[in-house]
Amino acid sequence: NSEAITVLISIGSHVYPKVLPPDVLTRVSEYVPEIVDFVKKIVENGYGYVSNGSVYFDTAKFDAGDKHSYAKLVPEAVGDQKALHEGEGDLSISADRLSEKRSPIDFALWKASKPGEPSWDSPWGKGRPGWHIECSAMAGSILGESMDIHGGGFDLRFPHHDNELAQSEAHFENDHWVRYFLHTGHLTIAGCKMSKSLKNFITIKDALAKHTARQLRLAFLMHSWKDTLDYSSNTMESAIQYEKFLNEFFLNVKDILRAPTDITGQFERWEEAEMELNRSFYNQKAAVHAALRDNIDTRTALEELRVLVSQSNAYIAGRKNAKLAPNRMLLQSIALYLTDLLKTFGAIEGAEPIGFPVGTNGQNVDLESTVMPYLKVLSDFREGVRKIAREQKVTEVLSLCDMVRDETLPELGVRLEDHEGLPTVVKLVDRETLLKEKEEKKKVRADSSYICQDRSASSWHLMAKLAKMKIPPSEMFRSETDKYSTFDETGFPTHDADGKEISKGQTKKLRKLYEAQEKLYKEYLDSMQNGS
Ligand SMILES: *[C@@H]1O[C@H](CO)[C@@H](O)[C@H](O)[C@H]1NC(C)=O
Ligand SMILES: *[C@@H]1O[C@H](CO)[C@@H](O)[C@H](O)[C@H]1NC(C)=O
Ligand SMILES: [Zn+2]
Repeated sequence: NSEAITVLISIGSHVYPKVLPPDVLTRVSEYVPEIVDFVKKIVENGYGYVSNGSVYFDTAKFDAGDKHSYAKLVPEAVGDQKALHEGEGDLSISADRLSEKRSPIDFALWKASKPGEPSWDSPWGKGRPGWHIECSAMAGSILGESMDIHGGGFDLRFPHHDNELAQSEAHFENDHWVRYFLHTGHLTIAGCKMSKSLKNFITIKDALAKHTARQLRLAFLMHSWKDTLDYSSNTMESAIQYEKFLNEFFLNVKDILRAPTDITGQFERWEEAEMELNRSFYNQKAAVHAALRDNIDTRTALEELRVLVSQSNAYIAGRKNAKLAPNRMLLQSIALYLTDLLKTFGAIEGAEPIGFPVGTNGQNVDLESTVMPYLKVLSDFREGVRKIAREQKVTEVLSLCDMVRDETLPELGVRLEDHEGLPTVVKLVDRETLLKEKEEKKKVRADSSYICQDRSASSWHLMAKLAKMKIPPSEMFRSETDKYSTFDETGFPTHDADGKEISKGQTKKLRKLYEAQEKLYKEYLDSMQNGS
């Protein structure tokens, strides 16, 4: 019963609720006396009639009342016999059963049981509750004559909720049994309705074996709660990409905030770039607020957050290109805002002020503040060693430094990013992700050697191009330590492996390659800023 599906998000609460357990669970079999009383009251109020041991709701009588109106939710469905019979849970309704009703659109409040069927005693003989009445009686006995919000799947609007509403308002003689209905969209699996017969049934447990709870939550948040959500690899892929996009931003900001700061760090002068980012920040916050006020449109809210992150990335890249430090206070405000909102959405658990928690699932250690000081020492030491090794042309030491970055630290969930002329960036990323990245890199390397043999394989070609795009021009020659030994501050080689100055002709050739890479790398940076 899709009525049991809980809305996964809860807006505006500061306890970060996620999926809360219900306060009360009810079982129909324990509420039969309440159900019988409920039906008796409807009959007393004049909206029900007894016929051949069953009790029916008199829709015409109800609809004629001043206060009442039948089928408020889906008026156009009245008379839809198919929907009504499915609702009665009795597809093969017989002609004599039909003749018991005053009108075909009347529905059963209490059904006489045939011999052998489960039954309870009632003033009308042995019988059982109609389908809709159980919800009215159970909810009514706990919540009283009115409730603010009633949830349920989109398919329950008619006849179930319309009949529930009518019989409850007939019982309580009011017109406000439910103030608001929230009808959630269906979940489909790769385009098909989830059903046991199609064998495309996926339990939450199955889904969690493939993806993390956060990825599932992001997938839900990336869709409007009232629309159909299709669970497919495409849907999950966009959620995973979104998570990655945010995570890289958080890691970059954390790294920027970690840079050694003196008191002047807090008095960074605002230039036009900061003014502009600040304006975007305010605009995006307003856009998120407007989206959430528009029927809790989380889909649009997440898109607006993506825009904010892209603008921030562009700002950071711009500063780095100009060899200027990005403004920390401003970036911190943006990262705090994003984190707080994602905590409200239930997409971030844990108490860390910025970003997704790092470290082993569930363990509530703040890994970041525990290990980062040590990593920083290691990273600074490595930078110093690399600088000397480069100057003295000790390639063995350089390759050791690469090994720490590419082999040793990823195993421990640490990613080092060397950026020429700038301090090394240290990121805590979970080990699984890093090992996957390592595999992919290896694959791309293997693929790019493959294209030499088969140029027609365009996807290999594309992947190789992608891998190449990601290399900053300042890094492109540095790894070729078998060819070059000395580089200028832009990473351009000045001396060959034997220490001889590189010839004018050779320099010209290399310059061309360097410029081509500059263009390619810029393309890559631009694509990153556009969030792709
Ligand atoms: C009354 O109900 C019984 C069984 O529940 C059924 O066999 C019989 O046909 C019904 N009579 C009428 C007049 O509908
Ligand atoms: C940032 O932008 C907001 C909204 O435009 C503005 O109210 C605020 O004064 C700006 N802050 C600074 C420091 O310019
Ligand atoms: Zn119900």
